[in-house]
Amino acid sequence: MDAMTPEELTERVVREYSGAPDPRVRELITALISHLHAFTVETRLTPQEWLAAVEFLTATGQKCDEQRQEFVLLSDVLGLSSLVDVVNSAPGVTESTVLGPFYRPGAPVRAMGEHIGRPEDGSPTLVSGTVTDADGRPIDQATVDVWQADDKGAYDIQDPGQPPFNLRGVFVTGPDGRYEFRTAQPASYPIPDDGPVGGLLRLTGRGHMRAAHIHAIVSAPGHRSVTTHIFVPGNPYLDSDAVFGVKDSLIKEFRPAGPGDPADVEFLVDMDFSLAPA
Ligand code: BEZ
Ligand code: FE
Repeated sequence: MDAMTPEELTERVVREYSGAPDPRVRELITALISHLHAFTVETRLTPQEWLAAVEFLTATGQKCDEQRQEFVLLSDVLGLSSLVDVVNSAPGVTESTVLGPFYRPGAPVRAMGEHIGRPEDGSPTLVSGTVTDADGRPIDQATVDVWQADDKGAYDIQDPGQPPFNLRGVFVTGPDGRYEFRTAQPASYPIPDDGPVGGLLRLTGRGHMRAAHIHAIVSAPGHRSVTTHIFVPGNPYLDSDAVFGVKDSLIKEFRPAGPGDPADVEFLVDMDFSLAPA
């Protein structure tokens, strides 16, 4: 009797899962098996490498707790989070990017133009723009939920020296769709690298830095929310962002303030958000 070939085994396993009653589950599981098997055959994966992968995934799970989601971080550094984003993005509206682990729901709703942080958090920067629908019509009652690290690259939840919800805030637009807030110019910072994902980055010679950015989730009734960033131009990590989150359309000028600009800011950023219909 001939020995079983890889192709025969793959076909058999796929066939066994082909009876899944839910068509989407069937599609996902059979494609996953086919790709995993093809990867194994292509790389001639050894038992030692298979065990190392199992141990890596086990350690990744063990690193997870209420505060830390090492599997999402793994997805981020493999570019998978960004790929899911790109595959599901709505055309012709603001591009989305990764959420990241530092979002905290429940940030205070702030008055238009208010500073979301403290003077010592970095160069004062005024960010403003209009939230519109896909046809450019301003959206009333849109929420712009923003958060960021300070100019040393630390979020409030990483830095006991910052008060809770520092550099976070929610702004609600009026009928003109406008929003405006003051903040600090953000800095680059390392993603959490004290776990298995950090080990993977070192093993593969990849960097752990994120390009400097401000996060935003923009939502409005009847529209698709967008989770996105504003990136600082000229940042050294724009081309090597650890989580592949940079999109050209999200790099915005940080214009030095001049005569006629508010006297309390050093930089001004224009960032309009457009939302797809729900
Ligand atoms: C962040 O930008 O906050 C972030 C995103 C993905 C992984 C780590 C951090
Ligand atoms: Fe971030």
